[in-house]
Amino acid sequence: MGRVEGKVVLVTGAGSGIGRATATLLAREGATVIVSDIDRGGGLETVQQIGGNARFVEQDTSQEADWKRLIEDIMAREGRLNGLVNNAGIAGPYPATFETETVEQWQRMLSINVQGVFLGCKHGVPAMRASGGGSIVNLSSLAAFLGTPNLSAYGASKGAVRQFTKTVAIDCARKGYKVRCNSVHPGIILTPMGEGIMAGDKARERTRRSIPIGDFGVPEDIAFGILYLISDESRFVTGSELVIDGGMNAI
Ligand SMILES: NC(=O)c1ccc[n+]([C@@H]2O[C@H](COP(=O)([O-])OP(=O)(O)OC[C@H]3O[C@@H](n4cnc5c(N)ncnc54)[C@H](O)[C@@H]3O)[C@@H](O)[C@H]2O)c1
Repeated sequence: MGRVEGKVVLVTGAGSGIGRATATLLAREGATVIVSDIDRGGGLETVQQIGGNARFVEQDTSQEADWKRLIEDIMAREGRLNGLVNNAGIAGPYPATFETETVEQWQRMLSINVQGVFLGCKHGVPAMRASGGGSIVNLSSLAAFLGTPNLSAYGASKGAVRQFTKTVAIDCARKGYKVRCNSVHPGIILTPMGEGIMAGDKARERTRRSIPIGDFGVPEDIAFGILYLISDESRFVTGSELVIDGGMNAI
C-alpha cells in the first residue's frame, strides 16, 4: 500500500524540477496526480515519464479563471481533491537588487509566486472540504528567512508565501475544515531554476562550499518532504515550515 494511496493530488508547475519529481513520487506512492504547468511540453513529458496515474492540464497559476476551470474539471472527472502542491514559481532575472528591479519584474514575480499560491488556496480549499479534507503544501524557500540582495522580489515573494501559509492553516483549523496547510523551504536544488542563479563554475563551487552538508540538493530531496506533508502521516502538522536545505538555515 502506497503512502498516499487513493488520494487525488494536484501539483502545479510539475513540468520541471521539484514539481516533476514530486508528481512522480506521489504517483509511485499511489496517488492520482494532476500535473499542471504553463509549459505544455514539460507537463506532457512528466505525465509520460510517470506512465499512468497522471494527466496533464495546462494552467497559468496567476490567473483566477484557470484555477476555477481546473478545480471544476478535477471535481467533475476525479470527483475529489485530497492534496494540492502549490509549486509553480519563477525566479530572476538574476541578479536583481532592489535598486535595479523594475516595477514590471516585481509585479510579475508577485503575481505568479504569491497570487498563484493565494488563488490555489482560495479555490483548492472548498474542493478539499467537499472531499472530506485535505493537505496543501506551498513551496516557499530558504529565501523566506534571509536577506536576498540579488533576488529582491523573489525573496519578498517567498516571505509572503511563508506567512500566508500560516494564515490559511490557522483559519482552516479554527473553522474545522480538516484542511492542513504547510510550507516547504528548499535550499539550493539542482533544477533549471537552481542552476539559473549560479553563473559559471566558480560561482557554482563557491555556492557548493557554502552548504554545510557539502553538496546541492536534488529535486527528490524536496519531493520526499512534500510526500510526508501530503500523506496522513502528517495529520497533526499544520502551519509548519519544513526546511530542506543541507543546513544552510542553521548557520
Ligand atoms: N531550485 C531551487 O533551488 C529552489 C529553491 C527554493 C525554492 N524553490 C521553489 O520550488 C518551486 C519549484 O522550483 P524548481 O526549481 O523546480 O523550478 P523550475 O523552473 O525547474 O520549475 C518551475 C515550473 O513552474 C512552471 N511555471 C512557471 N510559471 C508558471 C505559471 N504562471 N503557471 C504554471 N506554471 C508555471 C514552469 O513552467 C516550470 O515547469 C518554485 O516555487 C521555486 O521558487 C526552488
